Amino acid sequence: MIKKTTIKDIDVSGKRTLVRVDFNVPLNNGTGIITDDSRIRATLPTIDYLVDNGTRVILCSHLGRPEGRVDKKLSLAVVARRLSEIMRQPVKFVEDCIGAEVEAAVAGLKNGDIMLLENLRFHPEEEKGDPEFARSLARLGDIFVNDAFGTCHRRHASIVAITRYLKGVSGLLLEKETNSLGSVLENPPRPFAVLLGGAKVSDKVGMIDNIISKVDYIIIGGGMAATFLKAKSYEVGLSLIEDGQDTAAELMDKASKNRVRIILPEDVVVTRTISNRGKVSNVSVENIAKNKRIVDIGALTISNFTSVLEKCQTVFWNGPMGIYEIPRFAEGTRAMANIIASLNATTIVGGGSTAEIVTEMKLAEKMTFVSTGGGASLRFLGGETLPGVEVLLDKELP
Ligand code: 3PG
Repeated sequence: MIKKTTIKDIDVSGKRTLVRVDFNVPLNNGTGIITDDSRIRATLPTIDYLVDNGTRVILCSHLGRPEGRVDKKLSLAVVARRLSEIMRQPVKFVEDCIGAEVEAAVAGLKNGDIMLLENLRFHPEEEKGDPEFARSLARLGDIFVNDAFGTCHRRHASIVAITRYLKGVSGLLLEKETNSLGSVLENPPRPFAVLLGGAKVSDKVGMIDNIISKVDYIIIGGGMAATFLKAKSYEVGLSLIEDGQDTAAELMDKASKNRVRIILPEDVVVTRTISNRGKVSNVSVENIAKNKRIVDIGALTISNFTSVLEKCQTVFWNGPMGIYEIPRFAEGTRAMANIIASLNATTIVGGGSTAEIVTEMKLAEKMTFVSTGGGASLRFLGGETLPGVEVLLDKELP
């Protein structure tokens, strides 16, 4: 892996630094309150470093998917307020991310000041990777810092095209993400287990393919398990099945050729309707009724998965074990979070919903590393070069 120049390798003092961050935080739809501010906190090392070194910090980010239109529900104003509370320092907020007014506001910044621009995705040019839009953004800074690991798989203007106009270096979060996830790819202590859940097998195929030669166990729960069970000819009732049975069968074949053990649920929690009420039962995978669907892994499976995880020196976890949003179907997911947090091993949690669960359970500190990237971490572990990382300056060898 080619190392990238970071903010610590260059002279940043007195400079206007345009910092792309990933402040795409989960919001409570009704109230607009930030429900998990981990992505904001994860950028603090970079922001603190820049402030301490007397730069003028101009932060930019997207929030949600407003599809190129101004949508006040997706304004970053709420993030500016939260950042200001966390930093105990004013964070100026401007209601656009390009244009004369924004340029004037930037011109008023002093060394050590922080400003956050409005949602980049209010402009359709951002997602199109438009060079003119990137050039307008570039007018705001002397250097460009990318600390938005979670968005580095997107070829958006503020991620890729911006580096045509400004020298691009890595922030400290981006460096930590690529180093931590890179260690899984390079030399993971064995035995190494990958615990996978969530709905889609297709999201994870590239990643499994890329790391299969380094893994000892692939443990599968969540919605994905139904696709694997179906590929093994089990009845899975009304469980959602992805058109991925061939992929599942191929993966099982590849795993056996690589002497990797695939561990599937032996029992599951099933119900007729997905709701807070109604009968649920814990059944063997051999006895799933045609009119029921799988909503969680079962008690025996929790214990089987636990025994495997306890043998491991490295664990990578991505994806919930069931419909964890409904508390009574969250037991498997919560049990896996607790066991992984208690292991004396290198434990890495993929981003997205898995990271949110771990944070909500206050277990993030107990993991070796919790990635802020959902799609980005899977692509990275799939061996893809992330476009946003590729365009940054390579580190000069001593
Ligand atoms: C994420 O949450 O995975 C990143 O912020 C990227 O968001 P996107 O999937 O809307 O591009």
